Amino acid sequence: MEIDELPGVGEKVAEKLKEAGFDSLEAIAAASISELKDLGLGEASVSKIIKAAKDGIKNAPQMGFETGLDALKKRELIGKITTGSDELNKLLGGGVETQAITELYGQFGSGKTQLAHQLSVNVQMPEDEGGLGRSALYIDTENTFRPERIQDMAKYLKLDPVEVLKNIHVARAYNSDHQTLLAEKAGELAEEYNVGLVVVDSLMSHFRAEYTGRGTLADRQQKINKHMHLLQRNLADRHNISIIVTNQVMSRPDVFFADPTAPVGGHIVGHTSTFRVYLRKSKGDKRVAKLVDSPSLPEGECVFEVTTGGIKDAKGKD
Ligand code: GTP
Ligand code: MG
Repeated sequence: MEIDELPGVGEKVAEKLKEAGFDSLEAIAAASISELKDLGLGEASVSKIIKAAKDGIKNAPQMGFETGLDALKKRELIGKITTGSDELNKLLGGGVETQAITELYGQFGSGKTQLAHQLSVNVQMPEDEGGLGRSALYIDTENTFRPERIQDMAKYLKLDPVEVLKNIHVARAYNSDHQTLLAEKAGELAEEYNVGLVVVDSLMSHFRAEYTGRGTLADRQQKINKHMHLLQRNLADRHNISIIVTNQVMSRPDVFFADPTAPVGGHIVGHTSTFRVYLRKSKGDKRVAKLVDSPSLPEGECVFEVTTGGIKDAKGKD
């Protein structure tokens, strides 16, 4: 059964649903009535659509189950992008994985944007050199994408800076709705541009600025949740892409006991990202990365360096 075969769902409504990330019977069956009402649909027809999607799944031969072998085959396609630092790669189990969201969080200047730039270069390298031979999409919410830094990093790797820049597709997101829209668009461009990496730098800045105060917090969390699931389903899973999202930590000098190292966005972001890496500044160019959350890797720390040539292993001890 296809989405446009659901009762009351014509081509237009199907398009609307897909655009909002409800692109499968499973996604529609799991949606709440209010989520679909937000798309301008009436309550009665929304209930009908959700019920029909649930029935459609139940009647499908496999009912959304795949065999363990199918799951294994999909996992065998996972690629890893080198960070530029062997130590950091080791911490991450070989590099930044596809089919997953990796959250980089930390204070200003901790190296989140630098690492995102480096990965946008490295994803382009051939597989035997730690890349995927694919291009990068960069959703820039803070206007911190710097082509000059890409040139520095490319030159250090003896790559043609112009070619490397051509394979990074940058879009500036002006507000949170625009950011979500760009993530949807990224799904459409994934095949055309042979995208292996999507960066959202930073994930929360617009949401944070637009939704202030307690009353709007639930609304904000719901929107972020949707954004994250879209990144996972439409990009990471469907196109075997690696997703990097960056996130600031809270600074709440007014709350004495608040954890100053907690990432913004609370539980939602944490639960929807596969890997979480906490970055902090150390002496000089040195940075410390801590793997906080991962499905199968041990927690641990390593030191790396941000240099003009890019991300490297740290020289000497700190
Ligand atoms: P926010 O976005 O402000 O939260 O910070 P961030 O974590 O994204 O920090 P970012 O990755 O932008 O790190 C900036 C830091 O990287 C600078 O303070 C420098 O220490 C370092 N850096 C940036 N460019 C260069 C460079 O060309 N050479 C060297 N040696 N260091 C650089
Ligand atoms: Mg930054």
